[in-house]
Amino acid sequence: MKIIEKKADLKIEINKLRNFSKTIGFVPTMGALHEGHISLITSSKNDNDITIASIFVNPTQFNDKKDYQRYPRILNDDVKKLEEAKCDILFIPTEEEMYPEEDNRQFDFGNIDKVMEGKFRPGHFRGVALIVSKLFEIVTPDRAYFGEKDFQQVAIIKHLTKLMCYPVEIVSCPIIRESDGLAMSSRNMLLNKEEREHVPLISKTLFKARNIAQKMNVEETKNWVIQTINADPFLKAEYFEIVNDTSLESINNWSQKGEKVGCIAVHVGNIRLIDNVRFYL
Ligand code: PAF
Repeated sequence: MKIIEKKADLKIEINKLRNFSKTIGFVPTMGALHEGHISLITSSKNDNDITIASIFVNPTQFNDKKDYQRYPRILNDDVKKLEEAKCDILFIPTEEEMYPEEDNRQFDFGNIDKVMEGKFRPGHFRGVALIVSKLFEIVTPDRAYFGEKDFQQVAIIKHLTKLMCYPVEIVSCPIIRESDGLAMSSRNMLLNKEEREHVPLISKTLFKARNIAQKMNVEETKNWVIQTINADPFLKAEYFEIVNDTSLESINNWSQKGEKVGCIAVHVGNIRLIDNVRFYL
């Protein structure tokens, strides 16, 4: 695997690949890689000639400075995992390389950045859009791969891609879970032993909610999820919303058209986790 730090060097490499008509799959990450990330590399390798991953802990998408400071950074482990997964190129730019000057761009995402993560993490999706647009312009991938755990992020990136006319296919890949159901996330490694024992309740509650929904209306189902999570002294639900999977507008009746996704954010001590499930009603 080639490890590249400079945009200019990566561009030279990409031009060479393009001269040989190679297709490029791209997996942008912030590192602290787990099986979820590796599943994205595997999908990219199946679909493309060359797979490029990036690791960059993007400061502009952290609305909480402490969250940015404690975000896990374990580059040596990440490199090993990517080499085992047979990733072809790893791009690890510095902050100076990605933000040589202040980037003041604003994006209009309509409703989809006003709700859920957008509401509780102001500025977060603007930061995601800033970095993803820069990375897409450098890497010029044919396909880019994102995990569905970050359901709203995938919607934002699809919107951004249309807005900016990037000729890239956005591929969203299923959530990978631990054996006890916990959605894999880089932040899981920040949980202490006790917290780790309590967090499987998040996915267990979401899965149970799908059955509960057969008997309860939307409001009752939402209240049941929040109450079940908050009954655990280690967990505090920030929100649980059931939304249309395209418009991200709240559902208030099961008979509403479109696919429905239940999205949750939960505080566990200092750590904030998100998860989601689809409702088939
Ligand atoms: O999902 C992530 O890891 C990040 O939000 C992303 C897409 C790499 C942008 O920094």
